[in-house]
Amino acid sequence: MRAILRNIRWEAEGINSYLLYPMPGEVFPPFEPGAHVDVQLSPGLARSYSLVNDPAIRGYYEIAVHHAIDGRGGSKHIHEQWRVGQVLEISAPKNNFPMDESAGHTVLVAGGIGITPMLPMIARLEKLKKSWELHYVAATPDRAAYVDRVEEYPQVEIAYDGVPGGQRLDLKAICGRAPADAHLYCCGPTGMLEAFVAINADRPKGHAHIEYFSAETELATEGGYALDCVRSKKRIVVEEGETMLDAMLSAGIDVGFACSEGICGTCQVKVLDGIPDHRDHFLTEDEKAENKSIMVCCSGSKSATLVLDI
Ligand code: FES
Repeated sequence: MRAILRNIRWEAEGINSYLLYPMPGEVFPPFEPGAHVDVQLSPGLARSYSLVNDPAIRGYYEIAVHHAIDGRGGSKHIHEQWRVGQVLEISAPKNNFPMDESAGHTVLVAGGIGITPMLPMIARLEKLKKSWELHYVAATPDRAAYVDRVEEYPQVEIAYDGVPGGQRLDLKAICGRAPADAHLYCCGPTGMLEAFVAINADRPKGHAHIEYFSAETELATEGGYALDCVRSKKRIVVEEGETMLDAMLSAGIDVGFACSEGICGTCQVKVLDGIPDHRDHFLTEDEKAENKSIMVCCSGSKSATLVLDI
């Protein structure tokens, strides 16, 4: 879809929000809390961003972008190149972080820019008059975006862990006191997500949800295997030093991708035969064990050949 960038707003140090509107005469599809859009930045450079606005207010999408100094160029491009009035190419909303609205209680845990998917969740929970709480940690008050949108609620805890005498979130205590029928959601840095998953390991399956906004994914670049791309009728050898995605794009295969680090799910391809070497954070452990699909941006192959439905 095409979108017009109508507004850029400073939200916190290094974090801007961007308001995207449909082209004249067009409307954006509705979205669910937790959804994101992929934004095409330039040929070969796309990124995924959570939608921040209340899903009930139709007509525009709001995303927020943290300028990651040590990032891979997506946020730098947006902060330095995007101008109001520009026409952008975005995907329809996709939701890898859906909220279970039937939960007796909802616990939201956000680290830094991980606050973004929580905002439409809060809007929805408030509309449904559901019980919820938010625990939000940022380094300093200057670097905490959207505090003004959540601080009015008494069930919100905001912590700053980068100031003298500051505090971290006590994840163990937060999760430990959540009732058995609660659903818990966490979006933040990798270390926080790993701790959250470990702490909630004994909860019923599907009650603890995580969303990466970036990941320290170890890309499979060992190469030394072949891809049989059935629908494209191409056999491709993946060489050492390149990812499966690199090899596919060089061979002219039209495969969609966005995050390039195994978190958004855009590059998922069906596996017809062979054993993938899964490196992503998108598929569940059960899905990985089934070997029915692969994230080609980051994963490799344990078998000499992978047969792919592309
Ligand atoms: S491009 Fe996002 S998971 Fe592969």
